[in-house]
Amino acid sequence: MVDGGRLRLGFVGCGTIAQWHLAAARNAASRTDITATIDTDRDRAEAMAKETGAQPFTSFDDALNDDACDAVLVMVPPRFHEQLAVAALQAGKHVLLEKPMAPTLDACDRILGAAKHAPDTVFLVAENAQFWPEVVRVRELIQEGAVGDIITARAWHCLPPMPGFYDGAHWRMSSQATGGGVTIHAGLHWLRPLRMWLGEIDEVVAVTGHPFQQMEGESLCRALCRFDTGPTASFDVILSPGPTAPLPLFQVTGTTGELVVDGIGPVKHYDGADPRGTIVGQGSYLESHNAQIAAFEAAVLDGAPPAATADYSLGELRAVPAMYRSAQTHRWEPVW
Ligand SMILES: NC(=O)c1ccc[n+]([C@@H]2O[C@H](COP(=O)([O-])OP(=O)(O)OC[C@H]3O[C@@H](n4cnc5c(N)ncnc54)[C@H](O)[C@@H]3O)[C@@H](O)[C@H]2O)c1
Repeated sequence: MVDGGRLRLGFVGCGTIAQWHLAAARNAASRTDITATIDTDRDRAEAMAKETGAQPFTSFDDALNDDACDAVLVMVPPRFHEQLAVAALQAGKHVLLEKPMAPTLDACDRILGAAKHAPDTVFLVAENAQFWPEVVRVRELIQEGAVGDIITARAWHCLPPMPGFYDGAHWRMSSQATGGGVTIHAGLHWLRPLRMWLGEIDEVVAVTGHPFQQMEGESLCRALCRFDTGPTASFDVILSPGPTAPLPLFQVTGTTGELVVDGIGPVKHYDGADPRGTIVGQGSYLESHNAQIAAFEAAVLDGAPPAATADYSLGELRAVPAMYRSAQTHRWEPVW
C-alpha cells in the first residue's frame, strides 16, 4: 500500500500537539511527507497545510475518499479517537493514535478489534514516554544491574496547569471528553516508565482530589502501585494551583544504589561513590516525539517491530480506573 518508499501521512487534528509532531517529523522522519491536514476547524487545517504543503480537509471522510494519505496521525480530543481510528483502520490506513487510546476500556477494545480486522495495517498508540531518553536510559541501567534488585520507585508530576492545555472550556476540563482527570492525561506518561522498569501493575490504592477546582475531573491523584515483580511504587500526579518546586521526576531505589531522573535532562546514579550522584544519562522529553515518529515510519515502511504494541498501553489504562475505584472504596483495588 505504501509506494515509492515514502510515507504519505495525514495529520488529523491540527492543534497544540500537532505542532510538536510536526517538529518531530521534520527532525526524525525523513521518509515521511505530510500530505493531508484534517481539522474540523478550517483555519487550523489550512494553517497546517500552508506549513507542510499538504492538502487541507475539514472532513475526515473527504480525506479518506480522496485517498490523500496512506497513514494518519490522530491528534484530536480523546472522545473522538474511536470514531476516527476505526474509520481509518477500516479504510486500510496505518494509524498512530495519540494517548489515551480512548476514554473507556470498552472503546479501546473496539479500536483494537478494528485493528485486528485490518492485519495489513500498522496500529500504534503514541505514548511517547516509551521513547523518553531518560526513561530508556534508566531501563538500560536497571538491566545492567546498576542498582541491584529494585526495592521501590517513585513517580512525581506536580505542576501548575499549562496555559493552552487547561484554559476555560478546553476539552481537558471535561471528564466526559477524556475519561477522567489529570491521571488519564498527564499521569499516563508517568505510569508507562514505572511499567517499563517494574513490570505490570497488579493492584493500586489511591486518593484523588480537586485542587484545580475549575477542572471537572480529579486534579490530584496520589497512589501506591503494587507490581507483579514484587515492589510497590508511589505515583503522584498533581495540577497545583500555585507554584511548585522542581523535585525529581522519578527515583528507583535498589539494593545497591539509586537512579534519579532529576527533572528534564539528567539521569543520576547514586552508588555511594559521590554523594552528589554521578550523571549517567542526558536527554530531553521532546526528543521522545522524534524517536516515536521515526519508529512509526520504520514500522510502516520497513516492517520494523514496534517498541510497544498498542495493547501494551492497556496496562496504564486499566490502572487508572482501578485508582478511581480505590478513591471511592478506600481499599486496594485489583487492576483488570
Ligand atoms: N503525547 C503528549 O505528550 C500529548 C500532549 C498533548 C496532547 N496529547 C493528545 O493529543 C490529542 C490532541 O491534544 P491537543 O492538546 O493537541 O488538543 P487541541 O485541542 O489543541 O487540538 C485538537 C484539534 O482537533 C480538532 N478536532 C476536534 N475534533 C475533530 C474531528 N472530529 N476531526 C478533525 N479534527 C478535530 C480541533 O479542532 C483541534 O484543532 C489528545 O488525544 C491528547 O490527549 C498528547
